[in-house]
Amino acid sequence: MLQGKEILLGVTGGIAAYKSVLLLRELTKEGANVHVIMTKSAQNFVAPLTFQTLSGNPVTTEIFTLFASSKIGHISLADRADLLVIAPATANIIGKIANGIADDFLTTMVMATRVPVLFAPAMNTNMWASPVVQANITRLKSMGYHFMDPAEGELACGTTGRGKLADVDEIVEDIKTLLYPKDLAGEKILVTAGPTEEAIDPARCITNRSSGKMGYNLAMVARRRGAEVILISGPSCLPVPCGLPTIHCTTALEMQQIINEHLEEATMVIMAAAVADFRPAETSKTKIKRLGTHCLDLEPNPDILAGIGKVKGDRFLVGFAAETDDLIDNAQEKMKRKNLDMIVANDVTACGAGFCCDTNIIKIIERDGSVHDFPQMSKEKVAEVILDHVVAGRKKMKKES
Ligand code: CTP
Repeated sequence: MLQGKEILLGVTGGIAAYKSVLLLRELTKEGANVHVIMTKSAQNFVAPLTFQTLSGNPVTTEIFTLFASSKIGHISLADRADLLVIAPATANIIGKIANGIADDFLTTMVMATRVPVLFAPAMNTNMWASPVVQANITRLKSMGYHFMDPAEGELACGTTGRGKLADVDEIVEDIKTLLYPKDLAGEKILVTAGPTEEAIDPARCITNRSSGKMGYNLAMVARRRGAEVILISGPSCLPVPCGLPTIHCTTALEMQQIINEHLEEATMVIMAAAVADFRPAETSKTKIKRLGTHCLDLEPNPDILAGIGKVKGDRFLVGFAAETDDLIDNAQEKMKRKNLDMIVANDVTACGAGFCCDTNIIKIIERDGSVHDFPQMSKEKVAEVILDHVVAGRKKMKKES
């Protein structure tokens, strides 16, 4: 995801400095080449050697030694990099940068660079709330610097409140959002995810093995690419993506109702949910007892996507086809029947594909019949590939209209 990206990680002196080690690990795992810059006080919390070992790059700690050893080439890092993130960012570093002070390598770098700069602050709750810090942040934001809010919780100083460094996953997500091209800007996308559950009685239900991972990844990647996204999720154990508008539902009928409420303003619908095709004709109010055999009467749920297809307009519609046999033929038939622009087909019985895995193996079939084959990829990468095709398909649609 961050393959080929050059990221500068500024570490300043707070107890949360140890978490920037975890941030560094995540960034390198995602393929980024990270150069760490530490302030003098950061080195009281974590040794530069830790960052050097994990990044595979020398750690910059002192502006003057750099000049002395004529490694001014390092300063070109400021131009070469794709992004500078300061995590944790103390009240002190925020104050210095907001007021034009450049007295060490990190503050000099911030002044010299033209790449996006993201601050992930961490400090005592009262310091965070202080009008001085808030005024400095407002000033920096007005100049185009990016800020994450610190999290709430128990702080190292013993108080509880806002001031903890944001979760590493959230920092990585913000970095990705800043780095992605905004090729879905202007689109309002409804993404459905997960299974639906149809109650048999208070203890049992009809559902399926969908985890929601594919839909959640699509929603996250679409947001990174500039779309306004609403995630409509059936029951799933996945954490709600930070800051992503998410509406939870249980049954297919509830999912349909939520979609109908938001369809008017939607320009795209990506239906990744595995909707239950049937629901019990009656739901027992009490737990059904184990008395011999029991027949369950089922009635069909609406085909939500086919319903959207009927009122499609110029919306871009993407469906999924979870198949166990005749993958392409079945998917093409579904695409026509539901009036879709694209369908993503996968064989749910294939190893490394389908419901509960972190990976998927897909084929993308377009309205003109063209079929694109992909190898096994992470669901995040699959989401990117699907959205690449959505962007291309949307362009084609606009040209033709
Ligand atoms: N879908 C839907 N409403 C349903 C069933 C499916 O909106 N009641 C959507 C799914 O979200 C998916 C697409 O239709 O995007 C195809 O779903 P799939 O389960 O593969 O196909 P079905 O239409 O249910 O056909 P079948 O189960 O017979 O294969």
